[in-house]
Amino acid sequence: MRVLLTGSAGFIGTAIGAALEAAGHEVVRVDMMLDKAHGATQAPAGTHRLDVRDAASWTSLLTGVDAVCHQAAVVGAGVAVADLPDYAGHNDLGTAALLAAMHVAGVDRLVLASSMVVYGEGRYTCAEHGDQAPPPRERAALDAGDFENHCPVCGADLAWALVDEDARLDPRSSYAVSKLAQEHYASAWVRQADASAVALRYHNVYGPGMPRDTPYSGVAAMFRSSLERGERPQVFEDGGQMRDFVHVDDVARANLAALESVVADDPGRYAAYNVASGHPVAIREVAELVGAGVGGGVRPEVTGGYRLGDVRHVVASPERARTGLGFAAEVLPRDGLRAFATAPLRA
Ligand code: UD1
Repeated sequence: MRVLLTGSAGFIGTAIGAALEAAGHEVVRVDMMLDKAHGATQAPAGTHRLDVRDAASWTSLLTGVDAVCHQAAVVGAGVAVADLPDYAGHNDLGTAALLAAMHVAGVDRLVLASSMVVYGEGRYTCAEHGDQAPPPRERAALDAGDFENHCPVCGADLAWALVDEDARLDPRSSYAVSKLAQEHYASAWVRQADASAVALRYHNVYGPGMPRDTPYSGVAAMFRSSLERGERPQVFEDGGQMRDFVHVDDVARANLAALESVVADDPGRYAAYNVASGHPVAIREVAELVGAGVGGGVRPEVTGGYRLGDVRHVVASPERARTGLGFAAEVLPRDGLRAFATAPLRA
């Protein structure tokens, strides 16, 4: 198939482009080479340096395309209020403009990069009161070293459980809001244009080519960059926060499976899938695994500090992606994270 790939020069887009070509597909690469993500780096050969917000002006690139794989986005948790227009502009206006241009060009298949951040907190259960949706954690509790969420009925510590795709959506940052809006635009377009779309909710992605740490980076890049500077990784809270770390090559495989599925789909179908390894890991263990991968080994430091906006646990069920897309991750976090300690990062 012929796939138009937006965000093709990014960390995830680069891996997807390579996986598509290795599987014999043709890739039309689009990336605006946003300064914040690429600095002065030149666009890779064959990249159309374009902005998705202007998609109406490059509809011709969509001619003969079977599906669009839309990865272009401003990422991170949204550090400053001043970032809001960037998230709304690049991510949401960009998606709307792309969907309209696809309709004009007669392209009706989309795979969208979404994120587990659309869930906010993960899923929790109380031994006595069943499933509970805890409110955001209070500063006073965090200051006292009380990091777990509590049952709103009895106050007991809540246990984490696997989040499936029908979980309540509760975006808590400007980035999360923009990702959820992208999903909503895509599902509205599916109905209006009688099209098909798959949204992939990535969990914590890591792997070679990940950008060095910036205020917008995820924790894996933070730990990896600390080691590169000869510093110990700083683990916040008590390190017991649970996540699912999925390797970028698995994310590329998931996109390939989603593209093949969406191209074969009947029109009118919108579906979202978690993209996760299925092997949850505590943040302290992530720091230990990455630290163990460098010569001599480096032990992380558990600081007890916290960031008010962080959620405690968010751990995916990979089940629906397995049954719906035939996707199962191949890289175990304990292998991938250790190898990540010495993998090249991008500047
Ligand atoms: C991250 C991303 C989010 C992305 C999602 C899925 C950020 C800020 N968050 O969410 O945008 O969609 O993964 O890929 O980019 N921590 C430390 N030490 C550090 C930094 C963080 O212990 O130096 C802890 C945090 O307190 C948190 C956990 O690590 O408990 C994960 O942090 P992070 O990767 O930033 O955020 P996520 O919520 O997992």
